[in-house]
Amino acid sequence: MATSGHIPVLLQPVVDLLTLTGQEHTGGVFADCTAGLGGHAVHIAARLGPTGTVILNDLDAGNLARAAEAVRVAVPGITILTHAGNFASLPRFIASHGLRATCVLADLGFASTQVDNPARGLSFMHDGPLDMRLDPAGPVTAADLVATMTEQELVQTIAEFGEEKHPKPIARRIVQARQQGAITTTAQLAAIIRSALAGKPTGGIDPATRTFQALRIAVNDELGNLDALLDEISAGARALQPPGSTHTGPRTEWLAPGARVGIISFHSLEDRPVKHTFANLVKAGLARHVIKDPLGPTDDEQRTNPRSRSAKLRGIQITSNDSGPSGAKGCSHG
Ligand SMILES: C[S@@+](CC[C@H](N)C(=O)[O-])C[C@H]1O[C@@H](n2cnc3c(N)ncnc32)[C@H](O)[C@@H]1O
Repeated sequence: MATSGHIPVLLQPVVDLLTLTGQEHTGGVFADCTAGLGGHAVHIAARLGPTGTVILNDLDAGNLARAAEAVRVAVPGITILTHAGNFASLPRFIASHGLRATCVLADLGFASTQVDNPARGLSFMHDGPLDMRLDPAGPVTAADLVATMTEQELVQTIAEFGEEKHPKPIARRIVQARQQGAITTTAQLAAIIRSALAGKPTGGIDPATRTFQALRIAVNDELGNLDALLDEISAGARALQPPGSTHTGPRTEWLAPGARVGIISFHSLEDRPVKHTFANLVKAGLARHVIKDPLGPTDDEQRTNPRSRSAKLRGIQITSNDSGPSGAKGCSHG
């Protein structure tokens, strides 16, 4: 059940987390926040069977269409709903359809169709327009940021989102370079960064790696969007508590009692808020850990899929006063 050579990260742990190992999971509702190429979705869909529902979401309409087609082919007859947009708005879309998700996945970051396409401007390995938008209709490109940020803003962005140890020479060199003419391509920017860091240790990675990560995160407001999704997960957990319970804050009715939630992150800036939100939900009695210490790839997976190297999977199960921790149809196990 492959999707055109695409290898989903941590596939088996994700399927085990979200569905009951070795059994049928008919009729569940799977919300895939980051459908990508549908790599995870086809396998979860197979567990839900034709009476299940798969809700696919992606910022990238091209990927969303690919994922929907992959699920349709893998499980004929299954109900598929698509939402082209930010995953922060997915919970309201689900609630507006009167549905409650029994399992939820967010596999953060970008897909191979995006990073391997020079036209998307995400990689310093290929020359292309300095774009970096995951949503091709998004309002701001990396070229816009590089042209308009002050030197101090560049320093802060590169340090914070890239965890770059030498942000100052990079920012200074960018500001000098843009006085000679606009920086519009990935190759131009990569050359500027490499010359700014010449002679400095970069830990064996291309000197442009961290700055490209920083700009991608800024262009797509990746951490703001993740925070918004985590808030919605908390709001969904609170909505399962009886009215008047001690749990205050917004309530969005989009999670089923016992719903399982998995998030795959690729760097510590993503993993940290996931860890804290999950821990807070468990502490408040609104969830239990299913995967507390994050799961990473096996040596085999790292060999066959190098992108999996930094992946970390965390998972919780939402509890509710109504049905206890195992109430979610289609996604429950021990
Ligand atoms: C790592 S890929 C997902 C791969 C997918 N699990 C699979 O196996 O095919 C991440 C996807 O999330 C999408 N994405 C990233 N941030 C998003 C956001 N805030 N809202 C919706 N989609 C987002 C990207 O466009 C990309 O297609």
